Amino acid sequence: MRAASANRLRCESCGAEMSELDPRTSCPKCGGLLSVEIELPTERGAALRALFDGRPGATPAAARADIHMSGVWRFRELVLPGIADQDLVTQWEGNTPLLARERIARWAEVPNLLLKHEGHNPTGSFKDRGMTVAVSNAVRIGASAVSCASTGNTSASLAAYAAVAGIPAIVLVPAGQVALGKLAQTLAYGARTLLVHGDFDDCLRLARESSERLGVYLANSINPFRIMGQTTIILELLQQLGWRAPDWIVFPAGNLGNTAAFGVALRLARETGLIESMPRLAAVQAEGAAPFARSFRGGFAERKAVRAETVATAIKIGDPASYDRGVRAIRDTNGVVLDVSDPEILEAKAIIDAGGVGCEPASAASVAGARRLARDGTIRRGERVVAVLTGHILKDPGILLEYHKDAGKPFGNTPVEIDAELGAIERVLSEPASTTRGR
Ligand code: F0G
Repeated sequence: MRAASANRLRCESCGAEMSELDPRTSCPKCGGLLSVEIELPTERGAALRALFDGRPGATPAAARADIHMSGVWRFRELVLPGIADQDLVTQWEGNTPLLARERIARWAEVPNLLLKHEGHNPTGSFKDRGMTVAVSNAVRIGASAVSCASTGNTSASLAAYAAVAGIPAIVLVPAGQVALGKLAQTLAYGARTLLVHGDFDDCLRLARESSERLGVYLANSINPFRIMGQTTIILELLQQLGWRAPDWIVFPAGNLGNTAAFGVALRLARETGLIESMPRLAAVQAEGAAPFARSFRGGFAERKAVRAETVATAIKIGDPASYDRGVRAIRDTNGVVLDVSDPEILEAKAIIDAGGVGCEPASAASVAGARRLARDGTIRRGERVVAVLTGHILKDPGILLEYHKDAGKPFGNTPVEIDAELGAIERVLSEPASTTRGR
């Protein structure tokens, strides 16, 4: 048991005192509610303020107004030097954690695995890093409206940043193919939302054509400002590693915006002397949406396009727009491109979720990909690997409920319906756990 401090639990009804380590949550004498009575620090006033203000993450008024609190604009010299502060549309995006989780690393067979969790961004995906730059630029150039095609995360992010900037947003998404959380966000943030009878590739074609025709500013990742914002995923993770580059960076790839951005980031980081060695990029696609992996296997001799099909709707893309810059990023970093199956993605996701970390299906492709690369010896034992989790677990609640509804799934956690009586709980807890979680 951990040592108790001088804190006490005190009953709010009868005043009885208990150790703060007592596991009971109501008063054993009278059933009253308990409060924690803490031992106050010796510092007071200015000394206490100085203690709190000196800690990382402190946000006194001055710091709150400081755009360098953003995990994108903190790197402004490498992102978009010269843009005026008053044009910046920021919600302190970035600042996402780099997590070490032993159970997930063990599953992936990569002992030195870290997870860069971009789901911690304001709208729950890495898109916010690109969007703060694209929408700031839209403000700077006086755009009257912004638009995008999306599998859901870009639209949610654009909708939010456009709302902050006070610019109308129009988004095109494939009807019936966008995860629930993303569609809900897009509507709630107020974007004009068009459900297109077609797939993402149709949406992007339409978005490009209509933005030209209607003079609307296009905020897809073909927009170069998006790419500059997304470079900060890499800059931030390098900073978190004390500027000691990892051996590998593994991430899901769809339209190849991130692949392009990561290549740019690493070139910039090398050129400016931020890092000494070049990590290798590993772009992971879903088996049914893997045109880039097919091109890679053919030595990039030919650009491929497919009709995409995968449970990971975020990366259900058949003809990636940033193909050429994606190729450059892979070549520059001696990188690899691979694909993983939907069952591998879902198993990786279940492990990431059950580890308390959680992510959306597309994000799990990175960890599934890391496992593939470790198993085939491409990632060698002892190499330091960062897998990027691109989106939050709540983006796609539908797929989660579907997975856990079925008791046969390897990491399934089926809910148990009971009558409202104590005996029912006892009966459930006395049964052997039907899941293999934690194995
Ligand atoms: N992971 C997530 C969660 C995504 O939403 C996306 C792309 C990717 C990975 C792939 O990144 O396109 O740069 O290769 N989502 C886009 C969207 C297409 O519209 O939200 P990419």
